[in-house]
Amino acid sequence: MTPSYTWPIIANDMLKKLETIKAKALDELKHIASVAELEAWRVSHLGKKSELTGILRSVSTLSPDQRKAVGAFANDVKGMLEMLYKENLTAMKEQLYEGMETAAKGEKFDITLPGRPVSSGRLHPATQMLREVCDVFASLGFQVAEGPEVEWEHYNFDTLNIPADHPARDMWDTFWIDHRNEKGERHMLLRTHTSPMQIRVMEKTKPPVRVVVPGKCYRYEATDARHEAMFYQIEGLAVDEHITFADLKGTLYEFARRMFGEERRVRFRCDYFPFVEPGVEMAIDCFVCGGKGCRLCSDTGWIEILGAGMVHPQVLRNVGYDPEKYTGYAFGMGVERISMLRYGIDDIRLFYSNDLRFLKQF
Ligand code: PHE
Repeated sequence: MTPSYTWPIIANDMLKKLETIKAKALDELKHIASVAELEAWRVSHLGKKSELTGILRSVSTLSPDQRKAVGAFANDVKGMLEMLYKENLTAMKEQLYEGMETAAKGEKFDITLPGRPVSSGRLHPATQMLREVCDVFASLGFQVAEGPEVEWEHYNFDTLNIPADHPARDMWDTFWIDHRNEKGERHMLLRTHTSPMQIRVMEKTKPPVRVVVPGKCYRYEATDARHEAMFYQIEGLAVDEHITFADLKGTLYEFARRMFGEERRVRFRCDYFPFVEPGVEMAIDCFVCGGKGCRLCSDTGWIEILGAGMVHPQVLRNVGYDPEKYTGYAFGMGVERISMLRYGIDDIRLFYSNDLRFLKQF
């Protein structure tokens, strides 16, 4: 039997040690300023190698009476330090996230307010108009085809009945590409109109042909309110047996009514393009003044919107079609011009100057 006087001495020692551990831990805690320091504090006082853990382990070597007294106190100290650790950690985190916490509580910031709208992009006004015009013709049975913007002189001029020495070449101021053929001639260019696609399409297909061709065109000219060096055109071509000028008029009349209103009237007048015969220019009655005369129509009552005509027999021959059997009509229009008329835009340069104040209106 263990002498009765010995156990209180050992137990007292351990209890004193626990008192010291507790006091030291509480004192250190007062100086802790960061989560990292708090973690170090936890390791030193509650970790596996801490004095407290050592005492708890040795409790089992004591007699039952000592074990009870020392174990209870050691566990109290441990529980207290653990609680303090948790409380301090929570407080520190709360401080860290104070801004957010208050925001979430709705003190500085009303989370029920609707969000700010995300600004979304849109199609360029020329693209929108291009699609609208193509839709009209698609509904009339035309297919949509696209072709190269860098073109051969052969397609842009020669096969369209505009030989090199023809004065009609002056109608299209051309950007020539610095590339020469075997004869030393420049023969590559930026297409001046979408008409070369008439040839490309006919070369590849047999009649009947019904296509519209949207695309960029380029002209070497000084820009002003009505001219740009780059712009869009839409070409149309229909070739079949028995196609007459009445088909041309009927189709383009329907187009004008769908784009500019049911009540539109149209006017055809003679015009010249080397690849059509006869050639015409189509105008619609001014939809602003109804034909009385105003600023938009320059007091004429009429607005020109496109060039057209019956496909020239020579053009048909150039692609191997028999002009005795097949006839057709072609037309071409400037897309920005249609848009300018529809929306009252008075300067074509607005389309390509990237001013969002303009572009956002469409
Ligand atoms: N290609 C002509 C131009 O750019 C327009 C046109 C096309 C005229 C088709 C008649 C037939 O001016």
